[in-house]
Amino acid sequence: MWKPAARIKYSAAGGRWPSAEEARQSLLFSPFERGRLSLAQRTWVPAMVPWRATEDGEVTADVLDWYRRFAEGKPGAIVVEATGIRDIPSGPLLRIGHDRYLPGLEKLTETVREASGGETRLFIQLIDFLTIRRRPEKTKFLQRFLAITEEIRDAIGASGWPEEKVRNRLCELDEDSLEKVLSPRDFESFSRGYRQRVTDVELDEIRDLPKTLPRLFAAAALRAEAAGFDGVELHYAHAYTMASFLSALNTRNDGYGGAPENRVRLPVEVLAAVRENVADDFVCGCRMLTEDCIEGGSSLADTSYFAQRFAGAGMDFISLSRGGKFEDAKAPRVGQAVYPYTGRSGYECMPAYISDEAGPFGRNVEPGAAIHAAVRQAGFDTPIVIAGGIHSFEQAEDILASERADVVALARQSLADPDWFTKVKSGRGTEVRLCEYTNYCEGLDTKHKMVTCQLWDRVDTDKPGVSLTPDGKRRTTAPRWRPDDIGN
Ligand SMILES: Cc1cc2nc3c(=O)[nH]c(=O)nc-3n(C[C@H](O)[C@H](O)[C@H](O)COP(=O)(O)O)c2cc1C
Ligand code: SF4
Repeated sequence: MWKPAARIKYSAAGGRWPSAEEARQSLLFSPFERGRLSLAQRTWVPAMVPWRATEDGEVTADVLDWYRRFAEGKPGAIVVEATGIRDIPSGPLLRIGHDRYLPGLEKLTETVREASGGETRLFIQLIDFLTIRRRPEKTKFLQRFLAITEEIRDAIGASGWPEEKVRNRLCELDEDSLEKVLSPRDFESFSRGYRQRVTDVELDEIRDLPKTLPRLFAAAALRAEAAGFDGVELHYAHAYTMASFLSALNTRNDGYGGAPENRVRLPVEVLAAVRENVADDFVCGCRMLTEDCIEGGSSLADTSYFAQRFAGAGMDFISLSRGGKFEDAKAPRVGQAVYPYTGRSGYECMPAYISDEAGPFGRNVEPGAAIHAAVRQAGFDTPIVIAGGIHSFEQAEDILASERADVVALARQSLADPDWFTKVKSGRGTEVRLCEYTNYCEGLDTKHKMVTCQLWDRVDTDKPGVSLTPDGKRRTTAPRWRPDDIGN
């Protein structure tokens, strides 16, 4: 993973934990009611892909175990991982693109409801993504995939040569020379793997996204409602289709790109289609970025405007993330696909303990506060959820007390200790297992391996009843807080 040049090391500190009485009187553990969003406390476990679904995207026993473990901590809300809205193969990523997924998803909602005693609201993140291919082997790419154009012939002085001879000549060139000879897009396909963009409007399926996506999101939301979720989180963040529409890099000239008013159009239309399809009390929120954190990407001014538009269009909550883009991701090895959390924008999304002067803790709070203020200025009280390096009660309470956000989300801290919420609420914060922000979990995510935390995945792996990863080395869920509960 990319690291800031300053290489300053930080360690998370719990600070002062509240007594049970202080916790009871805190903002963090107070109920929150606004519009359709109703939470027993102002805490939130944001979406985290744990790579536990089947190859067909079905819910497994491991998926149920994963969410049960979070639900036992009774946070205000859990957002189920990014779940694909199309009925297309996408590896072990959860899917909701067909009614056949309903029985598995129903089990998931029942499991969370039971484990949290009905205290935790359950949302599911709906994602669309475009085609991405693995980085090809050099000869294969140059001999088979690359289209030989006049520009390429001109660049290597091969006008009139038979195609085979041109390809053979290209195979003799090193990477630097190929960069000069190929178009930037072809060179990207060669050196990183082919990646579709929302601006590839010469492709029918890309041109038609504004027609197809509202229906796909609406159908997925209807399934989520049928499966018993309390609501959906439209994934408008990171490297995926909807975030790419919002990005300042979106130059489509069909009314869905260019100026911010056009870039926000499809996300607003998707929300309208979803809202039209679901019951009146069903929650429809979104996840979006405070900043793209890439060259030429959306700024805080753009995103403040987007948030105002979403609020005006009736979004029930706006959950803020940051960065996580393809554009600055590390080039993958041959045979692997590029991964969006490997560059600087990836660092901004999941800041790790080796950081710069700003540090990894609460890095998204100030940009989030600016968006919160912009939404309020526009006259809306849409709940704003903030995430990024938050792990202590003091941090969380301070964010709420200073009205920089309305709900506080802990992703990696919840993974490190899913009992964080119960421990802190009951005055036993000193027993919290603090996240060390090493991004070991994220490394597993990058390799599409079952995500676990290094602080607990080797603990008591030989105890009966402990579920292990396929290689038998790591436990799949955090050990229980009170060992006398069940014994695993
Ligand atoms: C393993 C892992 C998987 C993640 N998957 C998702 C995801 O599916 N959707 C999403 O919006 N964010 C995802 N994230 C980002 C988190 O929701 C969160 O925004 C980020 O980790 C920063 O919060 P934190 O510092 O509390 O961990 C993931 C993070 C991790 C560590
Ligand atoms: S592996 Fe555990 S300690 Fe390390 S960043 Fe992930 S959750 Fe935190």
